Amino acid sequence: NLPKVYITRRIPPDGLKALQQAGSCEIEQWDSDDPVPRSELLKKVSGIHALYCLLTEKIDKEVLDAAGPSLTVVSTMSVGYDHLSLEELKNRGIRVGFTPDVLTEAVAELTIALLLATSRRLIEAVEEAKNGGWGTWKPLWMCGSGLTESTVGILGLGRIGEAIVNRLRPFGVNKFLYNDIAPREELAAKISVDFVSLEELAKQSDFLIVCCALTPETQGMCNKQLFSKMKRSAVFINTSRGAVVNQEDLYHALASGQIASAGLDVTVPEPLPTNHPLFKLKNCVILPHIASATVETRNAMAALAAHNLLAGLKGEAMPKELKL
Ligand code: GLV
Ligand code: GLV
Repeated sequence: NLPKVYITRRIPPDGLKALQQAGSCEIEQWDSDDPVPRSELLKKVSGIHALYCLLTEKIDKEVLDAAGPSLTVVSTMSVGYDHLSLEELKNRGIRVGFTPDVLTEAVAELTIALLLATSRRLIEAVEEAKNGGWGTWKPLWMCGSGLTESTVGILGLGRIGEAIVNRLRPFGVNKFLYNDIAPREELAAKISVDFVSLEELAKQSDFLIVCCALTPETQGMCNKQLFSKMKRSAVFINTSRGAVVNQEDLYHALASGQIASAGLDVTVPEPLPTNHPLFKLKNCVILPHIASATVETRNAMAALAAHNLLAGLKGEAMPKELKL
């Protein structure tokens, strides 16, 4: 009897191929592009040995209880792990795989795209061009702020933060600063990024980019207090998780002109309801959580999650295992 694997969604072809070619497990899958309903998930996990999930599934005590003691591996096709109850997984001795590294470049690239779209007001400008707002060339119309000679602040200097810094340097950024729960001295020295307090990061940054993991410590970290210390010309970018930001505080900072603009790839909730006040602000660019969305990257994530799962089932070292 082969071990049973449940996959919570249709996944990119490279992921499914890797699992099928291994021939070492029996696969059941929620065959849809939409998330598996919670009730279905709770039914399907019963008696499985490994779970292949996405960031849309909350893997908590209820799911793990429903799965029962046969479950030894959870493999998520994401670098983020805030949807997993790590304490519950650890208590049960369940091993967890995730997908860092393979998405670093794609996420950094999208972060730059979002930053430029926000700072140079691309979405607003496209609308004006299309809708008759383009009366004539005007000296100060549609002006934003440039990266040249600017100070960029990174909140959460990890793999993605490093890739963002390396991509921004050729734009002529003058100074890179960062703040992190745990200072990354070696990496920071290597790429010439200076550690500062959160307050100094807020005060000095022309562009503040959030790329930390969502944990109990970072939840709501970008709040009224932080926004009130930022420059009125500052651009705020978040490609990590929506819950790192107090969205109501961000709304007020944007609506009152306390900061210039924001670009968000992540929100609370996702999707953000179309009538949400943030959508009404011209100085807020909102993307539907697409930072890792290149075909190659999503296939690489799917394959890595498959290899993590297969290694976990065999009791071998996973290519990318989350330390619990
Ligand atoms: C995307 O947000 C991921 O965690 O992979
Ligand atoms: C811009 O198009 C310029 O010619 O200054």
